[in-house]
Amino acid sequence: MALWGGRFLKKPNSLFKKFNNSLKIDYVLIKEDIKGSIAWSKILLDSKIIKKNEQKQLETSLNLIYKEIKNTPKKILLSNSEDIHSWVEKKLIYMLGDIGKKIHTGRSRNDQVTTDLRLWCKKKINSIKKNILNLKKSLLCLSEKYFSVIIPGYTHLQQAQPILFSHWCLAYFEMLSRDFDRLSDSFKRVDINPLGSGALAGTGWKINRNKLSNFMNFSKTSRNSLDSVSDRDYVIELLSISSIGMMHLSRFSEDLIFFNSVECNFIELSDDVTSGSSLMPQKKNPDALELIRGKTGRVYGSLINILVLFKGLPLSYNKDMQEDKEGLFDSLKTWKDCLKISKIILLGLKLNQHVCEKSAEKGYSNSTDLADYLVKKGISFRDSHHISGKIVLYAISKKKSLSQLNLNKLQNFCKLIKNDIYKYITLKKCLKQKNSKGGTSPKQVLSAIKKYKIDILKKNIN
Ligand code: ARG
Repeated sequence: MALWGGRFLKKPNSLFKKFNNSLKIDYVLIKEDIKGSIAWSKILLDSKIIKKNEQKQLETSLNLIYKEIKNTPKKILLSNSEDIHSWVEKKLIYMLGDIGKKIHTGRSRNDQVTTDLRLWCKKKINSIKKNILNLKKSLLCLSEKYFSVIIPGYTHLQQAQPILFSHWCLAYFEMLSRDFDRLSDSFKRVDINPLGSGALAGTGWKINRNKLSNFMNFSKTSRNSLDSVSDRDYVIELLSISSIGMMHLSRFSEDLIFFNSVECNFIELSDDVTSGSSLMPQKKNPDALELIRGKTGRVYGSLINILVLFKGLPLSYNKDMQEDKEGLFDSLKTWKDCLKISKIILLGLKLNQHVCEKSAEKGYSNSTDLADYLVKKGISFRDSHHISGKIVLYAISKKKSLSQLNLNKLQNFCKLIKNDIYKYITLKKCLKQKNSKGGTSPKQVLSAIKKYKIDILKKNIN
């Protein structure tokens, strides 16, 4: 029987019952539901609504229910309960009879469900933060391992200027740091207790809600009961943060897929994250990376889904809101899995140093430096840019790199070019020059690595 059967004469249509039940999705909230119910029993005692021995029995039974199901939560699905809240209450009533029937005094599933979900989100935020930190560590390790390797940097997927491979690693390190901080920031807004808001208007029972918040380790207590039961901003925010995080992982994957192409051949991926073709024996496909890129779509989908879901909802609780969990659960799991897989990919990644540097040399990525050289000789940048462009055009026609052109030829374009030009446009020199704060010079990159190492250590301590 449903918890709300009294007012009804007819049983629910069997198809409607299936349609209405959310147990198959929300059973994962079991731990949080038990935690919230224990806290609720304590506050019922505190407010003298139940007796001490009744609270004790409720708490013991709730712990027992959890112990029984902890390692096999899927067993919950054998029941035909409407949702996890009904399942726990039914169990309590089965175990304790009339005492079990007291647990829902002053409480509604409307404040209960969002309490559970907030507790669950707090747990997940912390676990995803750990995974981000692990991936950041892998990027840092890689940037140290291949510290001196030069790769071409791209704009418009055209070779632009040479950069250190480490600089590329640290670019993603920065993105991950922002994802991490976004999660920390959102935690403050998740860490608010809505329990005690009743169905929408508050509860008529005199309960100390701040005390209740402490029982569940919530830092704050919600301030408006209508808002408390209606608000899922925190879910939307988490999905938005997940979408940004996945977007970063997707770009990371796309870069590596490109670096791994036969045409680039900058990197080699380990066998353990690639797969072969059933037809073409030579193939070694970057499946893990492609899947990360592909799975980004479903996370975006969940964000759009929930935004649309809430757009026209009147206050306060509406059953539409039951649709808030599936996408969230799926997205956070997807994000976490992708963070873990990314780490494994980096662990086995090998850089073809020689190929990278050869490629950087081929692409005229030092032509800005040639222009800068001319500026140092007294020419305005706009003119030097033009001269450098002409020299590149000539070099292309001769199938030569800039440094393969002899001095006479170079001087045909500008008399101010002297023998020192060759030193000025080596890849190493180009890199060294980019010494502005945050630039790709070895000095800048090294100091960034040092700083990040200290930051990571601090985050581990916290
Ligand atoms: N299963 C519901 C959900 O996930 C719990 C709240 C039910 N509230 C109600 N008034 N029917 O949203």
